[in-house]
Amino acid sequence: MGEMLEQAVRTALRSVRDPVTGQDVVSAGMVDGLAVKAGMVQFALQVPRERARESEPLRAAAERAVAAVPGVLSATVVLTAHRTEPAKPTPHAHGPAAKTPPGQGAMLLPDVGAIIAVASGKGGVGKSTTAVNLAVALAMQGLRVGLLDADIYGPSLPQMLGTHERPRAEGQSIIPLSRWGLKAMSIGFLVEQETPMIWRGPMVMGALEQLMGQVAWGALDVMVVDMPPGTGDAQLTMSQRVPLAGAVIVSTPQDVALIDARRGVRMFEKVNVPVLGLIENMSFFCCPNCGHRTDIFGHGGAEAEAKRLGVEFLGGLPLKLAIRELADAGTPIVAARPDSEEAAAYQRIASRLREKLAERAGAGPRIVID
Ligand SMILES: Nc1ncnc2c1ncn2[C@@H]1O[C@H](COP(=O)(O)OP(=O)(O)OP(=O)(O)O)[C@@H](O)[C@H]1O
Ligand SMILES: [Mg+2]
Repeated sequence: MGEMLEQAVRTALRSVRDPVTGQDVVSAGMVDGLAVKAGMVQFALQVPRERARESEPLRAAAERAVAAVPGVLSATVVLTAHRTEPAKPTPHAHGPAAKTPPGQGAMLLPDVGAIIAVASGKGGVGKSTTAVNLAVALAMQGLRVGLLDADIYGPSLPQMLGTHERPRAEGQSIIPLSRWGLKAMSIGFLVEQETPMIWRGPMVMGALEQLMGQVAWGALDVMVVDMPPGTGDAQLTMSQRVPLAGAVIVSTPQDVALIDARRGVRMFEKVNVPVLGLIENMSFFCCPNCGHRTDIFGHGGAEAEAKRLGVEFLGGLPLKLAIRELADAGTPIVAARPDSEEAAAYQRIASRLREKLAERAGAGPRIVID
């Protein structure tokens, strides 16, 4: 049933032509990560970066064509801008000396321009939600983005990206899934959801290394890593085995969360991973009925804490039912409601991260962001 609908959707999309090339969007390979689930259709339409602005009518036409297919209940199409020319794999900021720390194998992920860990000291503060939305925002801004779920015990990506599809294997490599214009991988795509996952420390490290080393990520501008909570094995593996460009710490405004956020900042500093900044999630509550804003947890705590710690405050995100509902439904708000205030807040943080990465690239060429 789902497959037939997917076929019908593809057929419908063949009638949508790119006005510039005259080719239909399917033949032109512009349809990325088509997902059909219970009558809901989602995909990203890839356009060359220089045409991103003028491509809205094409996006709307694709959405209309899909919505008109019998059996389709909703259609969501997002535009992602891609380079016309595939960019050259970019060298790392860390010099060659930093690539192979003593006693370690070669650094993993050599073709990724910048790897950003989204972390927190405390669980449940919204790391995964933030990581997914920031990754989609960066992809919408034209970067080639990977999203790695480093939470081996409690992977979130299958739900947050709305897919339980099995990745394909090609030879020794696993092909990452394509969703919302980004490449994604999670242990949750590889093992049954119901399988209780009992891992010991070394197994966590092994699994994580495979998700980095055996997945055909290809050349990426940025990889966003959704970290598990705390300061354990995964954090250690990540800081030792990949040249992290930096960490983004997510916190809620409560004091307890802030104490843990501080611990998170310290941990990354100890292993010489720069902290790119602090994000305050569930910063304030917006009533879905009247739009009234309430500072439930005393908004602004993270900003003050960032100042104390000498790290940048990257912004606050509201506690909003739509953020949770859309995340649970597998359609991150940045993609599903690109015009919303919340999407704009994620986009602003994504832009600032790009600036910070470009600054950090500094003298040496590393990440190409224009
Ligand atoms: N800004 C927000 N507004 C409303 N709900 C949110 C927001 N951010 C996160 N949530 C919800 O809070 C819950 C926890 O979020 P999430 O899973 O992203 O946290 P986490 O830090 O990754 O958790 P864990 O430590 O278990 O990995 C989820 O149900 C999510 O939908
Ligand atoms: Mg999580």
